[in-house]
Amino acid sequence: MDRDVSVIGLGRVGLPLALSLADRGLTVVGVDRDADRLAAVRDGRMPFQETGGDEVMQRVHASGGLEVSDRVADAARARHIIVTIGTPSFSHIEIDMRDIRSALDDLLPVLAHGHSVVLRSTIAPGTTEFVAGYLESKLGFTVGEDLFVSHAPERIAAGKFFEEIDSLPQIVGGVGERSTAVCRELFEVYRSDVIETTPVQAELAKIWTNILRYATFSLPNLLMMDCEQYDANVFEVIDLINRDYPRGGIKMPGFTAGTCLRKDFTFSEERSHAPGMLLAVSRVNESVPLFLVEGMKRRLGSLRGKKVAVLGLAFKAGTDDERDSLAHKLVRLLERELVEVAVHDPHVPTPTQPFEDALRDAEAVVVATNHREFCGAGPLQEIVRLAAPDALVVDPWNCFGAAQVFAYAAEVAAMAPTEQPAESA
Ligand SMILES: NC(=O)c1ccc[n+]([C@@H]2O[C@H](COP(=O)([O-])OP(=O)(O)OC[C@H]3O[C@@H](n4cnc5c(N)ncnc54)[C@H](O)[C@@H]3O)[C@@H](O)[C@H]2O)c1
Repeated sequence: MDRDVSVIGLGRVGLPLALSLADRGLTVVGVDRDADRLAAVRDGRMPFQETGGDEVMQRVHASGGLEVSDRVADAARARHIIVTIGTPSFSHIEIDMRDIRSALDDLLPVLAHGHSVVLRSTIAPGTTEFVAGYLESKLGFTVGEDLFVSHAPERIAAGKFFEEIDSLPQIVGGVGERSTAVCRELFEVYRSDVIETTPVQAELAKIWTNILRYATFSLPNLLMMDCEQYDANVFEVIDLINRDYPRGGIKMPGFTAGTCLRKDFTFSEERSHAPGMLLAVSRVNESVPLFLVEGMKRRLGSLRGKKVAVLGLAFKAGTDDERDSLAHKLVRLLERELVEVAVHDPHVPTPTQPFEDALRDAEAVVVATNHREFCGAGPLQEIVRLAAPDALVVDPWNCFGAAQVFAYAAEVAAMAPTEQPAESA
């Protein structure tokens, strides 16, 4: 074993992790099956946006601390093998383990005494024990004695990796004490605390970190829909709940999805004792795009043939990640109303129209992603200047500070502060 650590899956989690390990002086092997991704890393280019990633990439490229390969077997050159492969869910509430299984099968012929397999991906409760049992049954090793298996979940938020990797506690749950100890050694390279626990508690802690956020954001989203029913203003009700009240704290409404929040709750729901509770949370968040389309129809009548500008395709502000974004769902729903949809997003790889072209003569403008570029007086002035004179502005994020989910452009301009508003949730 001539390298310190390998990372299988150089995605949004794996690549920043591999770079950060190499940046701390470890020799790292990065494995991915995506040829474009490997080519980008070989050339010293970040294949996606991650704040601070370009600088770390340049340093690591210069130092040569990260080698890449398309062969999972090359991961065995390092004692520590971190798996950061995607773990989607099937649509019928079950973790989709196929990519993880495929990587494990590729590792089987090359795993040797002393290797430590660290599952960094988000996984359903019991998966770490399954992986340990799978490797034991295929290889004849005893996990915890001559082969080590742990779960060390990734809890950073996209775009904050390099800010958070040294501060978020590293949760480490090994199969047997020695697995935990070997995994701890690796994560002690960071300044953050290492917290030891069992594999299943590590799995639950990660999933429920995301469930907490997913459920938390469903409440203002449900409230927004209730307010429409009662002709109430959600932003005023939220202010009434939170202002000077020590037990307040309800969040702001918006699109709640993305590649983690949209699926991680299903890993709990698979075996839930209260089946339906988290499905209801999901249904609330998933129905927000339809709620906005229905709200537009209530105000504008049929949308057929009308031009609607959608601002934002990314799943959240400031990222180029559009996987599992509800903005795509909004676009699909509008298309089903025979709308002429014009989209602008300055971050995402999907080609979109220039800002001015998207807005020009639009009869409605929807802020789907609260990118900084869409917030405040400047973009609002452009909407007033370019969109149809009585254009409906749909702003569930309160990007313009007018505190109106649905309002006509002139009303929004009259109610919005002229200065940049505080960034919404
Ligand atoms: N994206 C996030 O912000 C985030 C945060 C915390 C946790 N997670 C979890 O981390 C895991 C990875 O997420 P991600 O967003 O980085 O996924 P991703 O899709 O961006 O990256 C996965 C990478 O693995 C590669 N891959 C898949 N199967 C492979 C195989 N058999 N051999 C080699 N390479 C293979 C893919 O080509 C891809 O580059 C998931 O479980 C996710 O839930 C993600």
